[in-house]
Amino acid sequence: MMKKLLISAVSALVLGSGAAFAAGSEGHVENLDFSFENPFGTFDQQQLRRGFQVYREVCSACHGLKFVPLRSLADEGGPQMDADWVRAYAAELDEVYDPETDESRPRKETDMFPTRKGEGMGPDLSLMAKARAGFHGPYGTGISQLVNGIGGPEYIYSVLTGYTGEEVEMAGSYFYENHTFPGGLISMPAPLSEELVEYEDGTEASVHQMAEDVSAFLMWTAEPKMMARKQWGFVGVLLLGLLTTLLYLTNKRIWAPHKGKH
Ligand code: HEC
Repeated sequence: MMKKLLISAVSALVLGSGAAFAAGSEGHVENLDFSFENPFGTFDQQQLRRGFQVYREVCSACHGLKFVPLRSLADEGGPQMDADWVRAYAAELDEVYDPETDESRPRKETDMFPTRKGEGMGPDLSLMAKARAGFHGPYGTGISQLVNGIGGPEYIYSVLTGYTGEEVEMAGSYFYENHTFPGGLISMPAPLSEELVEYEDGTEASVHQMAEDVSAFLMWTAEPKMMARKQWGFVGVLLLGLLTTLLYLTNKRIWAPHKGKH
């Protein structure tokens, strides 16, 4: 009951302020309701699995996840892939250089995801959901972040869905018009198109769905322990509340004999 009430109070705030506050940012960033955004919110395991599928089949061609250990894919609270599956997946990826033997060896689940470097490759996405802010307003104060979060996953979603279809050639390179990317021109060609992946859970793979799922997955890579952090935060608030009550009662008791005497 308490939890329900809190959640609805917070969502009312978020809904009420979201539209108005999000408008203050540089490019256009849409506010989304992710499962992990309320104070007790958790990652949606099916969504993380879909998002990982999009990353694996599309984004991983150009973007690395060099800070993400492969074995974390099997962790509770994450996509929770089967441990044997993760082992097999790791072995299919690029080999890793082993400084001890000075040779390359097959990747293991204890290694990180591969990196991507060179011509046409994009920045590492491990921490992108925390490195970019979607919400800056109102009037650049950043107050909307208190209710809407920093908007990292929303920023990624909005970049992926913000293409206008226009492209420009400058000095031999191509740029694509994008509502969200600062400056309005991005060198990443629109990576998603309708039905680009076939979801293993049967969900329809619209561009919006894939963009939302991969953004949720990238929030998980950036903060895999978000759920534990929230739980401990809640325990902390409860303990502080208890301590406050005890102190109040103690204080009352100590001063009780002196009350009303001059
Ligand atoms: C063909 C290669 C390619 C593919 C595939 C690709 N990207 Fe990119 N991506 C790039 C490049 C190159 C940039 C740098 C763009 C720039 O700085 O103009 C970029 C930039 C980005 C940015 C903007 C980062 C910033 O600096 O704000 C995000 C977010 C992003 N990619 C996410 C994705 C996701 C998610 C996918 C999969 C759905 C994906 N990309 C697929 C090449 C690619």
